[in-house]
Amino acid sequence: MQLTPTADTRLCLAPERIAALATEFGTPLYVLDEAHLRARVRRQVAAWPWGEVSFASKANSTLAVLQVAHQEGCAIDVASEGELRAALAAGVPAERCRLHGNAKTRAELEFALAAGIGKVIADNTEELGLLGELGARCPVLLRLAPAVTPKTHAKISTGQADTKFGFPLGEAMGALSAALAAGLAVEGFHCHVGSQLLEPGAQVEGAVAIAEFALRALGEIGFEARVLNLGGGLGVRYLPDHEPLAVEEYAARLAGAVQSALGGRLTPRLDQEPGRSMVAESGVTVYRVQTVKTAGSGRTFVSVDGGLSDNPRPALYGSRYDVRFNSNGPPEPTRPVTVSGKHCETDTLFEDVPAPESLKAGDFVQVLVTGAYNSSMASQYNRYPRPATVMLREDGRACLVQERDRWDAMFARERLLGGD
Ligand code: LLP
Repeated sequence: MQLTPTADTRLCLAPERIAALATEFGTPLYVLDEAHLRARVRRQVAAWPWGEVSFASKANSTLAVLQVAHQEGCAIDVASEGELRAALAAGVPAERCRLHGNAKTRAELEFALAAGIGKVIADNTEELGLLGELGARCPVLLRLAPAVTPKTHAKISTGQADTKFGFPLGEAMGALSAALAAGLAVEGFHCHVGSQLLEPGAQVEGAVAIAEFALRALGEIGFEARVLNLGGGLGVRYLPDHEPLAVEEYAARLAGAVQSALGGRLTPRLDQEPGRSMVAESGVTVYRVQTVKTAGSGRTFVSVDGGLSDNPRPALYGSRYDVRFNSNGPPEPTRPVTVSGKHCETDTLFEDVPAPESLKAGDFVQVLVTGAYNSSMASQYNRYPRPATVMLREDGRACLVQERDRWDAMFARERLLGGD
């Protein structure tokens, strides 16, 4: 069947806007566009009439982003006490949060249950024991490992047989019986197979595997699943030739496959929890060029005022990005350059990028599709302050939603020896 890629709607700012934002807020700077983000979230929610859409907050847990996702009708998937606290700080009721994690601690579970968490996605036998001991009353899903290997980077592939996440299918029936015997309110099952999937094949396979497991649970122990959560994973267009499937078609294929596997014998609600596809394309990162240098090898390095600490993805996953140089002038000849970060190691951000011949120190660089897994994965390596995030409001104002790390805050948590 012909696949319909989504149209290219990535946020890309005009040169004048970039210069104005950089002057007002400094660089490196994360910029998100509110109207763009709301439109993405609304579109995903509208494309999924079969149940709940939960925003995977690990993609971007800036409070203003959580606020938007909540206002647009999403539940919030949190993978730690910190992400839960972020959602609560953003005004999301605990009841709308779903707690994930493969190594949840007693303290995390206690905090979540006391806060009134809406749902826990249980990953392992020890966790079921803890939930039983703590007298958890909230709905619980069992995360299953469907033994599916998606076509994506190995480090963001989680559904394969060789995984730390979830109950292997062979052990899941025993886990379900144990959870029910412990009095837990098991609602159904969950799987998440991987991330940055440009077509739904692997997610469909995982979803069908948990649907088939749900039918087995009905047949073997009379357990009637009321919810199947099919995870997240839809990819985005990092490069112009990346063609993620349109969200409506992706959703219809996924839900359709599960419904046909269930064949009307069970009619659970179908939930999903996308992260990247909700927020990545609504954000850009702005850097300023510090130096342009041609090495003895002949390679031209363009070093910018950020790098590994604000975008670790190139180093971690070999991720590639669409890099734009800010120029208002007429098109001019380009040459391939390597854009490097300023950290004290190779810190290659983007290789073989066509840059204008006239590129010089002080010029701005805009990197598209950095709204997901950039701010949320930022560090203070080399003691660089993490960048600020600005949200462009629907009325055109630029609103600072996360300030740049302050020097006093950076050192506030530390103590000198002998200073007590
Ligand atoms: N649900 C669960 C249980 C997950 O583990 C994840 C992502 C999601 C949902 C959301 O997946 P998404 O729709 O965003 O693909 N740091 C990596 C991505 C790690 C994803 C981990 N889990 C990166 O920068 O690519």
